[in-house]
Amino acid sequence: MSFFKQKVVTKPTKKKAKSKKENYDGKKHSKDENKLWANNFLADLCYSERVKGQAIILDSEALLTTKTLVRAGFKRANIHIPNPFVYEEIKRKHRNTYNCLLSEFLDNHKHLAGKVSLAFLDFMDTLHGSETKDRHPDDDIKKFFSDKYPNDDCVLGITISLRNPKTNGVGADVNNLNYIVSRFAYENGYHAVCLPGGKGYKGGMFFSAYRIIKAH
Ligand SMILES: C[S@@+](CC[C@H](N)C(=O)[O-])C[C@H]1O[C@@H](n2cnc3c(N)ncnc32)[C@H](O)[C@@H]1O
Repeated sequence: MSFFKQKVVTKPTKKKAKSKKENYDGKKHSKDENKLWANNFLADLCYSERVKGQAIILDSEALLTTKTLVRAGFKRANIHIPNPFVYEEIKRKHRNTYNCLLSEFLDNHKHLAGKVSLAFLDFMDTLHGSETKDRHPDDDIKKFFSDKYPNDDCVLGITISLRNPKTNGVGADVNNLNYIVSRFAYENGYHAVCLPGGKGYKGGMFFSAYRIIKAH
């Protein structure tokens, strides 16, 4: 090849990222040992006073979380499920189902403020979420506290999807989650105690639970 006829090296085109499947297969996941573990972990914290409160949960059409909470003693009528993705399916089986995202639910159900004894925000997004999907777990967590949803002694379970665990490290996301929960709790008159039992699974998900106690 002559000096003047050098081969033009074109940049390799980036492989298009595979888009994640939007739909969550509730039936398949209801047998997933990690999901069973997280639900049972929360249910074990539901002693007699706690089951008298209201619960806000992200649940799927398999209703694994609802069923676990009912077994623990919660009344079905006190369990609230916002889910615009499989609304019809859930609504057929559970009355208090809402055709909206969690963020909208929190905007419109302030009569539940101060009454929530258990919340399982079982997100499928990263902590900061995505503009295109209009889902931002960090904003939802902020709203949960600024609208004062927790009662005096509430359990809050949260699952987030980790960014890229291989390059960012799991620690940064987990620290951010703990920071956001404890900061928004504190700013709104609560103490958040991170419970032992935080668990990473499937290389990309992280579950953590907190006891939220009203500061006097
Ligand atoms: C991870 S699944 C819930 C699984 C259930 N908690 C269990 O343990 O089997 C989350 C469900 O809530 C829906 N969802 C995710 N983010 C949401 C949001 N911000 N608002 C409302 N629904 C959401 C998903 O489409 C899915 O059906």
